[in-house]
Amino acid sequence: MAEHAPEDQWTAVDDYLTGLLAPADEALTEALAASEAAGLPHINVAPNQGKFLHLLARIQGARRVLEIGTLGGYSTIWLGLALPADGVLVSLEYDPRHAEVARANLARAGLGKIAEVRVGPALESLPVVAADHPDPFDLVFIDADKVNNGNYVEWAVRLTHPGSVIVVDNVVRGGQVTDDSGTALDIVGTRAALQLIADHPKLDGTAIQTVGAKGYDGFALARVLA
Ligand code: SAH
Ligand code: DHB
Ligand code: MG
Repeated sequence: MAEHAPEDQWTAVDDYLTGLLAPADEALTEALAASEAAGLPHINVAPNQGKFLHLLARIQGARRVLEIGTLGGYSTIWLGLALPADGVLVSLEYDPRHAEVARANLARAGLGKIAEVRVGPALESLPVVAADHPDPFDLVFIDADKVNNGNYVEWAVRLTHPGSVIVVDNVVRGGQVTDDSGTALDIVGTRAALQLIADHPKLDGTAIQTVGAKGYDGFALARVLA
């Protein structure tokens, strides 16, 4: 076998796994095409990661999902397709341009009725979401500005119930997570989130490293306790 960069192999394996287990659905393919056409960055979850989130929501029996960080709504659609027709999907996005692309993508995916994209800094939207949605969320996917990951985990605990699931994306960042110098603010935020998951009396969790088409990264998974 020819020499090749490990990243090429990660991508080849991701392509194989995705083709087999997370094949392109029309709404998801169109969402990526529309995001591309609108010039959005390619920082959506990979298809097999999206399918993983979808399965988590199904396993959880989730009816109400909160996402922090919408981008073009790619992960939002994967999550939304796991919900019942009367489900609730709230996704928070800072950039109005991203939100506009996401709303169109969600409508095309048939999720216009259950999905709501709120524009603004998530830390400003969250108190409003709490007031507007008194029923707790079953699953929270945190995937926005990493500097606030600790704050987002705290909000997630506040807006969920015992048994709810919290997922935090991008907790490894090519291994940078072990950097305790405090210089990279996104790493400081992610380390605060992981510390909170470790210490919080209402959380039990773990974190997993991943490689794939999106490079070397990882996610944290936490369960809300009684
Ligand atoms: N979950 C998406 C990817 C999200 S990328 C997917 O996998 O398909 C991160 C998004 O968070 C970007 O769209 C960015 O604009 C948004 N973001 C950044 N800072 C934010 C903030 N303070 N509040 C809400 N969203 C924010
Ligand atoms: C970035 C953000 C993400 O949520 C992600 O999954 C990958 C990269 C980024 O900001 O670079
Ligand atoms: Mg991410």
